Amino acid sequence: MTTAGARRTLRVVLPVLATVAIVAPLTWMWQASRMPAAYSVMDMGHLDYGGAQPDSNASGHTHHSPGHHSMPSRSITDLVVDSSRPADVRVDLVTQHQPTASSTSLARHTVNGGSPGPEIRAIQGQLVEVHLRNESVSAGVTLHWHGLDVPNAMDGVAGVTQDAVPVGGDFTYRFVADRTGSFWYHSHQVSNPQVAGGLFGSLVVTPKSGIAQQQDVSAVAHTYGGVRTVNGKAEDLQVPAPPGQPVRVRVTNTDNGPMEVWSSGSYRLLAVDGVDVHRPSEVDERSLTLTSGGRADLEVRAPRDGSAVRIQLSKAISVIVGPRDAQAPVPTQPAEKLDLLTYGSPAPLGFDPTRATRSFDYVIGRRPGFVRGRPGMWWSINGHLYPNVPMFVVREGDVAVVHIENRSSEVHPMHLHGHHMVVLARNGVPATGSPWWVDSLNVAADESYDVAFLADNPGIWMDHCHNLKHAADGMVAHLMYAGLDTPYQLAGPSDNQPE
Ligand code: C2O
Ligand code: CU
Repeated sequence: MTTAGARRTLRVVLPVLATVAIVAPLTWMWQASRMPAAYSVMDMGHLDYGGAQPDSNASGHTHHSPGHHSMPSRSITDLVVDSSRPADVRVDLVTQHQPTASSTSLARHTVNGGSPGPEIRAIQGQLVEVHLRNESVSAGVTLHWHGLDVPNAMDGVAGVTQDAVPVGGDFTYRFVADRTGSFWYHSHQVSNPQVAGGLFGSLVVTPKSGIAQQQDVSAVAHTYGGVRTVNGKAEDLQVPAPPGQPVRVRVTNTDNGPMEVWSSGSYRLLAVDGVDVHRPSEVDERSLTLTSGGRADLEVRAPRDGSAVRIQLSKAISVIVGPRDAQAPVPTQPAEKLDLLTYGSPAPLGFDPTRATRSFDYVIGRRPGFVRGRPGMWWSINGHLYPNVPMFVVREGDVAVVHIENRSSEVHPMHLHGHHMVVLARNGVPATGSPWWVDSLNVAADESYDVAFLADNPGIWMDHCHNLKHAADGMVAHLMYAGLDTPYQLAGPSDNQPE
């Protein structure tokens, strides 16, 4: 070949090589991010033992560990309540798709014809049995009992703890309402559109002795297609109460973003995420940030002068407590926020977080890459993109601490299934108030939290962002107890898509 010919060849070959050098790794990354037709949550990501030894006897993480045939593991399907125990509370729930939003319902998905679905009420210790039938939601449905730490097989996560219930199918949930408080239920199949569309309702567990307030109301806030509502109506919720009467208002935020709550009068914050605050004081001129999925039980008193008190659920909608037709001033939003790091007074936790046996990081970032074959800027967990997310491993009895850090520019409501976490510190500043127990924690941009939980509820549990759009984009990790396995698969014939 002549020198000129060689140059010509190089002119062709070099750009081709350069292109291959760029495209080949991209193709590999794209290929690696695509999800198989069916896969187990057990195969997802990487095991994180939180600094403990992955002892082989108890691991039983069959899919990851080679030679698993000799190592029997227990199926999460065994994690149920005693099947011979009769139910104390029985509820039938039917899920439907509404082809068009009607004047009576803004929802596209309903439970027993409405949204929110019926409120389930139980007394502490009662066995609740919910029979779910899916009439017409074509993607299938499940029910997750948000904040109630039910046995794992009842957790309602499609592809992890059950298959999505197809049209015409049914599923029976049974669990003991073993703690008091305000909870809610929602579908955990294709959860972003299904929850936004209306597949949810509230669940309240009261103490055997009853509550101190004469009145007890739920205020479930939800935005349907841009319309802010409380208890499904785009109008203020009127709670008739004679002057001086204390009322308990159970506020639930079912939207993807945080909601500010404030009041024209003073209030006490009785409980957060279903856990009583220890010695809650009167709060004035402070707004409370209620994170996505979170609940706040407020106590307000109908004013003695015969007027009403108004609780704002964001600027758009309110709850009015007082005599019928009484005036309720519209309160301006306080500049200051109630800080739960210092609210209430200390009380025992029931375990010692300074003796943690596992220590995990949950660092949220953002980086370019591929998720499910799609290129983009995606949420990362400890630097990795979905599905290469951590599987946090514990054993029953472990005390786990988690350092949650938000290095992205958006707020993330972090929700751990099956457990309540107690906040130890925010941005390194220790908590000094009442134990601040959460199942949903608002982690704002650049914030960090140290939380702890006791591993007392065996299972495979989601640990995800409750901005369900973020979850659908891969902000999902899991917590598993060593020695467990699940027969369910993500995707697959039931098309299980928990996010
Ligand atoms: Cu309220 Cu995993 O969800
Ligand atoms: Cu998020």
